Amino acid sequence: MTQSTTRDPRANRPEYVLGVGDDELSRLGLQHRLWADEASGIWREAGFGPGQTILDVGCGPGFASFDLAPLLEPEGRVIAIDESPRYIERLSAEAQRRGLPNIDARVGDAQALDLAPGSIDGAWERWVMCFTPRPEAVVGGVAQALRPGGVFAMQEYFNYRTLTLAPRTPLFEPVVAAIRASWHDYGGDDDIGGSLPAMLRSAGLEVVSIRPLVRVARPGEAMWRWPDSYFRVFLPKIVEEGYLKESDRAAFMEEWARRSADPDSYFFTPPMVAIIARKPRG
Ligand SMILES: C[S@@+](CC[C@H](N)C(=O)[O-])C[C@H]1O[C@@H](n2cnc3c(N)ncnc32)[C@H](O)[C@@H]1O
Repeated sequence: MTQSTTRDPRANRPEYVLGVGDDELSRLGLQHRLWADEASGIWREAGFGPGQTILDVGCGPGFASFDLAPLLEPEGRVIAIDESPRYIERLSAEAQRRGLPNIDARVGDAQALDLAPGSIDGAWERWVMCFTPRPEAVVGGVAQALRPGGVFAMQEYFNYRTLTLAPRTPLFEPVVAAIRASWHDYGGDDDIGGSLPAMLRSAGLEVVSIRPLVRVARPGEAMWRWPDSYFRVFLPKIVEEGYLKESDRAAFMEEWARRSADPDSYFFTPPMVAIIARKPRG
């Protein structure tokens, strides 16, 4: 049974809703590998390339930054900003290990960016504004930091509630409701993609394109590991926080294990949109 709370869950766990532990860190790595081709396509469409300065806002442990940095060489760089000191520390160590000196990693709040006006050529954002209570502040900070003609490219959720295990099972319903309730209590919005065009326009950016991103994952395919890792990492947390009953979690995980061996099942991933917006040249 889902419980929506009025308490401030961030008081107990100050960092973002999924936490910043080792389990989430490796889940983010897997998630990036599964969606890396899509990100590269969006960067191509955005025109990111050599010599540019690109902001990776809410970069996490830096998996996208590590792919972006080589694209910008030799003169360009990535400015990677995340609120988690642990992720930024990990990013810096890994950048050094990989020989990527052109990543400037900083701890900071994406909602209070203080980059010099016109100092970046582009910005990349994925799965961050869906977690920030003030996404319009993120958009505003990026917009003022972009040079005229600069591009803000993003990948965000829209219509998350439609994620489905096929054939449908009622055991999934309390799980989806609990995920969404916890997410909202943390100040996030699983429908953020729907609000972004208006936010971008209010910040003076012109929306160039909006593309849907959705996949079907079948048992045994690499993409099946995306929901699988998510349920394993996140569901125990929302049980602990009182959003989901342990019996509902256990019943769903039993069904999930059964479906994971059923070639006739598939998972319909939560839909996302890729949005490209540009700052007019003046
Ligand atoms: C789902 S992860 C995505 C990480 C990365 N963008 C990626 O695509 O792999 C969300 C990230 O947003 C960061 N985050 C959430 N709220 C933030 C804020 N207000 N300022 C900076 N980072 C934030 C979290 O610390 C976490 O690293």
